[in-house]
Amino acid sequence: MSHVSVRRIALSELTTLKVGGPAELWEVEDVEGLTEATQAAYRILGAGSNLLVADAGVPERVIRLGRAFNDIARMTGERELWLGAATPLPGLVRRAQRLGLSGLEGLLGVPAVLGGAVAMNAGTRFGEMSDTLQEVEVFVGGALERLPADALDLSYRHAQLPQGAVVVRARLRLTASDPSAVQARMDEVDAARKGQPKIKSAGCAFKNPPGDSAGRVIDAAGLKGLRVGDAMVALEHGNFIVNLGHASARDVCRLLVMIQERTPVPLALEWRRWGFDTGGA
Ligand code: FAD
Ligand code: EPU
Repeated sequence: MSHVSVRRIALSELTTLKVGGPAELWEVEDVEGLTEATQAAYRILGAGSNLLVADAGVPERVIRLGRAFNDIARMTGERELWLGAATPLPGLVRRAQRLGLSGLEGLLGVPAVLGGAVAMNAGTRFGEMSDTLQEVEVFVGGALERLPADALDLSYRHAQLPQGAVVVRARLRLTASDPSAVQARMDEVDAARKGQPKIKSAGCAFKNPPGDSAGRVIDAAGLKGLRVGDAMVALEHGNFIVNLGHASARDVCRLLVMIQERTPVPLALEWRRWGFDTGGA
């Protein structure tokens, strides 16, 4: 098996917002592949569900962990387990429920892979990645290294990884529970997400300001339905920007600025932006 495959792609194909220009995708299958891919400037792509990528794309290599890092099939019911960073979170949450393992229910509906969920400390008010994360294995400075979760400064939508570190695996600790009890908690999370839009987006654009919801603030300012090109503030939830078809990063950026100008509370971006420091849209 080859360690790495390289191809040119449009990042709009690999982001949930369906926005973003060209890049060189380095899909790696093992540590040798990572060693090769990290010989020049790079970025790390998970499921692309929290990214706004410039229309001009990015000049850096975009590294994505391949199938060899997807351990969904290896989940067998142990409470303490190491899983590869390309394991899809939705499958992980469902499989944990079937196996009678609790701890991941709050992450229902987060369309990430495990590495991206760790890097963002993804979560909802029902629970976040840090609840179960014990340790990570990262590839950094050309070698694998283990870091305890305590060393990552995990907080609301934040993890402090060493510069350039690629999360390769994560060790989670789950608790044994009745599958129907796990399902009941998942139903609760699902119900709380019912008001979120179903069309192309990158989740919430802004972090919630302390004690409030950015969605509520944007809604109260009357901005639902505000539109630049095909980028629109969702009608269902003010903190989602949806792509109605052919939105560009430039459209999305203009809409973000308009929202920030028209809301009374400072709103900080939750999304990661790629390519804007290099003259992109
Ligand atoms: P990406 O978006 O690909 O990357 C995000 C960041 O993580 C980038 O900086 C990237 O470089 C870094 N990264 C990715 N993989 C690795 C790795 N292996 N090693 C090191 N760094 C890495 N988020 C929530 O927290 N709660 C929600 O309820 C929620 N709901 C959402 C609903 C929808 C419909 C959508 C589209 C998104 C939602 N999000 C939510 C946002 C998003 O799913 C999370 O931020 C998620 O953690 C991003 O993971 P990803 O794998 O897609 O990472
Ligand atoms: N609200 C409005 N109008 C809106 C949106 C929300 O009035 O347009 C009100 C709701 O009625 C509710 C309150 O604001 O009273 C909170 O809304 P919601 O329950 O939707 O939660 P949120 O704070 O807006 C957060 C996360 C979501 C996560 C949900 C569910 C952030 C930025 N957002 O949203 O995460 O799915 O809770 O727990 O923390 C994400 O991070 O990408 C994301 C989608």
